[in-house]
Amino acid sequence: MSTEIWTNKVPADAGPLDVRPLPNRTDPVPTAPSAPVLSLRRVSKTFGRVRALDTVDFDIFAHEVVGVVGDNAAGKSVLAKVIAGIHQPDSGELYLDGKPITIPSPSAAHGVGIAAVFQELALCDNLDVVSNLFLGRELVSNGRLDETAMERITAQVLGRIGARMPPVRTKVAGLSGGQRQSTAVARAMLGSPRVVVLDEPTSSLSIAQTAEVLNLVEHLRDSGHGVMMISHSLADIQAVADRLVVMRHGRINGEAPMTDVSYEDIIAAITGVPNELTRDYQARALLREPL
Ligand SMILES: Nc1ncnc2c1ncn2[C@@H]1O[C@H](COP(=O)(O)OP(=O)(O)O)[C@@H](O)[C@H]1O
Ligand SMILES: [Mg+2]
Repeated sequence: MSTEIWTNKVPADAGPLDVRPLPNRTDPVPTAPSAPVLSLRRVSKTFGRVRALDTVDFDIFAHEVVGVVGDNAAGKSVLAKVIAGIHQPDSGELYLDGKPITIPSPSAAHGVGIAAVFQELALCDNLDVVSNLFLGRELVSNGRLDETAMERITAQVLGRIGARMPPVRTKVAGLSGGQRQSTAVARAMLGSPRVVVLDEPTSSLSIAQTAEVLNLVEHLRDSGHGVMMISHSLADIQAVADRLVVMRHGRINGEAPMTDVSYEDIIAAITGVPNELTRDYQARALLREPL
């Protein structure tokens, strides 16, 4: 039996959170919308004996970046894949605009306005940017591929997400890591999703390319999307996230507005040292009303 102990009450002598200014944050925090676009409640998922998600409550609001952190195997990607319709939860509920939904496949996710980009970018190196965006869903006019329309839309989408790209007929093999990530995001943006899920979008990118992707994330947020960004880089999360969610062993181990948490609190929540962030989450989870 697990002997893990969870502190479910905020002790009377708990002091205020250690709040300190965050270095990279210059933009104003957007006004908090009142209701989440997407909510998960008590979602669990096991693979054999591995409990990848354990009664997870998770919300995504419009106009915000929710940063998800946690150690390796904490369940971050599985959470993203449940939202993207790749994995089905064993139990628990999902709600879109407060209404119960199921997301039985990635195309169902696409259909309800959820776009996801995973670490393993599914791009074809030997095809150009346009062909990658429309792979498997090419536009046809009079029985022929409508290359002009696809080029035009590609340029529009890249412009809309604020990506800096070479000409759209450049082969993906010739793109930088940041530009590849932009191409994958642009592909996900076809169909105008409301929620964008990014799993480790900056891993294996240079500093300049990372900055480019973080700009893109902010651009998505500022144009009204709800963005879930998983990252192992706390610097990236601190730079763009409005809200922080910490996962550990398949559970949510803390949640707070980004400006309310210190680096030390985040590390403690990731590694399982009970602290203000984890205690606060546990206390609020006890009070949470069911949807
Ligand atoms: N398709 C799968 N089959 C079996 N086990 C899986 C699968 N996907 C994830 N897991 C397991 O679930 C746990 C959480 O994985 P994951 O969400 O990928 O972690 P991370 O937080 O590093 O993204 C890990 O123990 C992982 O091995
Ligand atoms: Mg992962």
